[in-house]
Amino acid sequence: MTDVLVIGSLNADLVVRAPYFPKPGETISGDDLQIIPGGKGANQAVAAARQGASVAMLGRVGSDSFGPFLLDSLKSNQVDVTHVRADDSATGTATIIVDGNGQNSIVLSAGANGKVSPADVDSASALRPKLILLQLEIPIPTVLYAAQRARQNGSRVILNPAPAKSIPDELIFLADFIIPNETELSLLTGMEVKNIPSAEKAAKVMLTRGAKNVIVTLGSKGALVVSGTQMTQVDTYKVEVVDTTAAGDAFIGGFASALLRGLEIEKAVKYANACGALATTKFGAQPSLPTREETETFISS
Ligand code: RIB
Repeated sequence: MTDVLVIGSLNADLVVRAPYFPKPGETISGDDLQIIPGGKGANQAVAAARQGASVAMLGRVGSDSFGPFLLDSLKSNQVDVTHVRADDSATGTATIIVDGNGQNSIVLSAGANGKVSPADVDSASALRPKLILLQLEIPIPTVLYAAQRARQNGSRVILNPAPAKSIPDELIFLADFIIPNETELSLLTGMEVKNIPSAEKAAKVMLTRGAKNVIVTLGSKGALVVSGTQMTQVDTYKVEVVDTTAAGDAFIGGFASALLRGLEIEKAVKYANACGALATTKFGAQPSLPTREETETFISS
């Protein structure tokens, strides 16, 4: 039985740590290049699997050597890759600079991710997972189709509208949980989001557009849960930040697994905050995602 189906991207992350982000026209030196398994979809699949959920991934890789590299990472984390198709394009990549403060800047090349289609989604229609996780690194019509099928099949949908893009109201309406960060929420609403009051105001606009539950991730300020007339800020944990890459993905995987264990929303968000915080203490995307045991030890300490 599959608990979670992730329909999304797989990327080879080409990562260089540098003292700061170069300005236009500037050349600087960084550390050795590292090639690390990533992609928001695959990261969220690994994040949920490390938390103990049974997870399947649906997406595409290309015909180059990055494809098997990404599949191996999923398989070694017990993610079912039956529905990851290899086509004749290039595998998706993310060229990432991580600066001295652990912040990143990313350039995506979609490659095979850009070809994930509604027909691909239909290939997994027998799965009937409890939860479907969606992001925006595959074509938006496919994301919308996946959400429509999820609704027909009785699966709950978590939509992480990342990277920031505008989306149709129907997609907002179909998601049971929509989890943007401040930048994404700002783009979705056209409103400035820079603190908790402005995040609350923008999240309420999302409710008027049909959202059921909006969870805004706020980095070191934790997360804000806005649903109906309720608004709750959930604090996070203080850690030494090494690299923020995939912290949002760790949050989503942690939140999904906590929901599956029956935690109520605020408690699931608190747990997800711990997962996100832990991910920032290690370098890279998938290598940084915490297990359930690591998360529980961290929370209890
Ligand atoms: O969320 C982090 C991910 O975003 C990276 O792994 C990179 O692949 C980009 O998709």
